Amino acid sequence: MARKPLELNATLIKRIDLAEGLTIFRVRPEAHDFQTFEPGQYVVLGLNHPEHGPVQRSYSIASPPQTLPEYLDFYVRYVVRPTSENPLTHLLFKLKEGDRLFMGPKFRGKFTVTHEVGADDPRLRVLVAAGTGLAPFTSMVFDHLHRFGPTDQYLVLHGASYPHDMGYREELEKALNTNPAKKRYFPTISRDPGNEAWPEDGFRGRVETLFEEEKLATLERAAGLPEGFITPHNAVVFICGLTGTIANTLTLLLDRGFIPRELKLRNALHIPADTPPSLFFEQYDTEPVLDVKNEEAMMPYRARLEKAGVVLADPAASV
Ligand SMILES: Cc1cc2nc3c(=O)[nH]c(=O)nc-3n(C[C@H](O)[C@H](O)[C@H](O)COP(=O)(O)OP(=O)(O)OC[C@H]3O[C@@H](n4cnc5c(N)ncnc54)[C@H](O)[C@@H]3O)c2cc1C
Ligand SMILES: NC(=O)c1ccc[n+]([C@@H]2O[C@H](COP(=O)([O-])OP(=O)(O)OC[C@H]3O[C@@H](n4cnc5c(N)ncnc54)[C@H](OP(=O)(O)O)[C@@H]3O)[C@@H](O)[C@H]2O)c1
Repeated sequence: MARKPLELNATLIKRIDLAEGLTIFRVRPEAHDFQTFEPGQYVVLGLNHPEHGPVQRSYSIASPPQTLPEYLDFYVRYVVRPTSENPLTHLLFKLKEGDRLFMGPKFRGKFTVTHEVGADDPRLRVLVAAGTGLAPFTSMVFDHLHRFGPTDQYLVLHGASYPHDMGYREELEKALNTNPAKKRYFPTISRDPGNEAWPEDGFRGRVETLFEEEKLATLERAAGLPEGFITPHNAVVFICGLTGTIANTLTLLLDRGFIPRELKLRNALHIPADTPPSLFFEQYDTEPVLDVKNEEAMMPYRARLEKAGVVLADPAASV
């Protein structure tokens, strides 16, 4: 039986095409009973394909709550090799300003500062993003700016292949790098920029490489932080992007004693129940971050944590 078409209840009011297949979609919702959202949350967007029918996917909100009820921004990558026969990005990227689409009625997700650590947690918030994984973090940073003014509580690390893929670069520079002695935004490119300009002292390599020992010391210096500052005592880490980004960032940060929140990982790492989490991530698929069922493969990760001074539990007692 054909599925019922989605009722289009939102309008694309602007599209900012940053690069081929990389766009900020500005959408005005209508007739929603929701009031506001927590930065870090997402909504469902959808469209109707004339043959394949309706399709819906989740998208993080890139704008802060203050732009409602006017609009919400979504930072989206066109997926060249989709897995479904009805990929939403192939419909979304055909839209013109003024076209209509579907927006789900609920704000969803718990990848928020309030939920993960509490709004009053005074520690540095290290936000690690690959590509469009930046979306929840622009919402967090711009919300903070709107409500409290300039901040040095957020440290944004953003990885993209090329300079032209580095969405929100100017806005984040302006928001977070006003004090050259206390920079809080560091973009990094993972491919040769060719003819595009990239600062001599700009970071290179995928974003997770910023947590390799030497680079981390350089990063801390560039941010005006004491060397060795980024530990769970002083900082919490949020990661959004590809599974590889999450896995590699987590692995390197075990050396600094960071503890993931995810239960399966905690169990496999033998984290005691009363050890608070300090590393949070949002994943768009279900691919395991680490091979938690492989006891032998988990041993080196536990060793890294123990070397960092984390006391692990008896496996039977861990959660
Ligand atoms: C909570 C949540 C928030 C999300 N927020 C965003 C967002 O802000 N911006 C955004 O662009 N996407 C976001 N996504 C991914 C989005 O929901 C879709 O999966 C994506 O747009 C692909 O949909 P599609 O229908 O075009 O492709 P599909 O036919 O569904 O194919 C999906 C396939 O493409 C892969 N894929 C997904 N994203 C990419 C990508 N960028 N590059 C290459 N392969 C990819 C998937 O692993 C899967 O194999 C989010 C997902 C979740 C769960
Ligand atoms: N809330 C959420 O869950 C949420 C929100 C937004 C986005 N997302 C997801 O985040 C992902 C970002 O994708 P994108 O298309 O925007 O990224 P992209 O532009 O293709 O790549 C961004 C960076 O990620 C690197 N990268 C590519 N493959 C990698 C891997 N397997 N492991 C580690 N790093 C890798 C790239 O390095 P190279 O140059 O070496 O390729 C590049 O530096 C998407 O899958 C998107 O769906 C999730």
